[in-house]
Amino acid sequence: MKKVITYGTYDLLHYGHIRLLERAKELGDYLIVGVTADDFDKARGKINVQQSLSERIEAVRKTGIADEIIAEEYEGQKIDDIIKYNVDIFTVGTDWVGYFDYLKEYCEVVYLPRTEGVSSSEIREKKRNLNLGIVGNSPFLHKVINEGQYVNGLCISGMYTDNRSRFEKKVTNLVDSYEDLLSVSDAIYVHAMPAQHYELTKKAILAGKHVLCESPIALKKAECEELFELAAEHGVQLIEALKTAYSLAFHRLLLMVKGGKIGDIISVDAVCTSLKDYEELERKEWGSLWNSMAGWGPTALLPIFQLLGTEYTSCELTGRYIDDDHTFDIFAKAAFGFPKALASMKVGNGVKSEGELIISGTKGYIYVPAPWWKTDYFEIRYENPADNKRYFYQLEGEGIRNELVAFNKCVEFGKPDYYITRNVSVAIAQVMEMFEDKDKVRII
Ligand code: CTP
Repeated sequence: MKKVITYGTYDLLHYGHIRLLERAKELGDYLIVGVTADDFDKARGKINVQQSLSERIEAVRKTGIADEIIAEEYEGQKIDDIIKYNVDIFTVGTDWVGYFDYLKEYCEVVYLPRTEGVSSSEIREKKRNLNLGIVGNSPFLHKVINEGQYVNGLCISGMYTDNRSRFEKKVTNLVDSYEDLLSVSDAIYVHAMPAQHYELTKKAILAGKHVLCESPIALKKAECEELFELAAEHGVQLIEALKTAYSLAFHRLLLMVKGGKIGDIISVDAVCTSLKDYEELERKEWGSLWNSMAGWGPTALLPIFQLLGTEYTSCELTGRYIDDDHTFDIFAKAAFGFPKALASMKVGNGVKSEGELIISGTKGYIYVPAPWWKTDYFEIRYENPADNKRYFYQLEGEGIRNELVAFNKCVEFGKPDYYITRNVSVAIAQVMEMFEDKDKVRII
């Protein structure tokens, strides 16, 4: 019996796939189809696959062409499979010519002509085109515009900024007013100074636009709640843009902790800092910089509120400021008490420390090395080091790409609870508000 094997993602199964499978089957007597698992696909850059692995396997099964279906989960698996299943022929479409010649050592390799005029990417692109307008002035937005190109179904419709000179060289679709931006967009990405987020987000929601707003969404609890109410009334999504929340490693880490891998959680301790040019700070150029609490606070608060909830019983705040009026904090600390746990966050903008995340439990702890907010790696550590486990997940495009894909999906299918919930966004805004009230802050 001649065994044939072929691999693919088979997202939104189309006739190009079916023709490939039919011809693959004709090469032998028994066809094995490897369907690429989500994580592995992400590592290869296909990050906007619309269907889950089980849906894609089911679609291939329904064609009735495959004799056996397997999941492809790791790099190098093809060699393992060819040996394990005693495969005679490996085949894929001509879009891969030459790429799999290394398998000739193990079996015959056949490249079948690809069907012209159809691909999963094109179908995804056509399925929905979300016109995303960008508002703000941070140089970070260059990255967002660049990453937006990799997300199927998303198109950067324009940008409005009050710092035109920073963007006009590279951004071709700058518009003259925020109203103009709203008129050409279905959704808005807000990344202005924190104090502007509330107004910009509100205007967008009132115009019926979905909003992806950089953290913090608002600097007051009531304002944040109001925005979520407004979004619900207008039937649009309001999502907090906090890259870490959308990274695969961070998501898996949360699942492992909630699944009891380290027992009961006793303490969550997060540190996020970045060093700034001190002279620049002292020249009072901090008017255009994010203070430590607004810049890093939401990120450091994220694992605390996502793991321990938002019902803390105490919160002690400390701030260190660059100016006598206590306008710009270069360092802030928050210590939380929960009924059965503790948490702390330490943030700095102009102060440097080890940016790690440690989650302590009754059975072990999780250690995420610096910079933990760009998590692609973490360890679960136990009393006996031999039991320790390391986990690695590829992070694409600093996490911006995943965030845009997640937003795109939320607009299409609704927001799943495992992203930042309204409660967490509101709790973050509340900490911002408390920190603004200098009576509530111990000033050092
Ligand atoms: N294929 C084909 N003809 C097409 C599309 C795909 O013969 N028009 C083949 C590919 O060469 C591959 C298999 O079908 O052997 C699975 O391809 P996959 O990557 O899942 O599909 P694409 O439509 O190419 O997906 P994408 O657009 O995301 O790259």
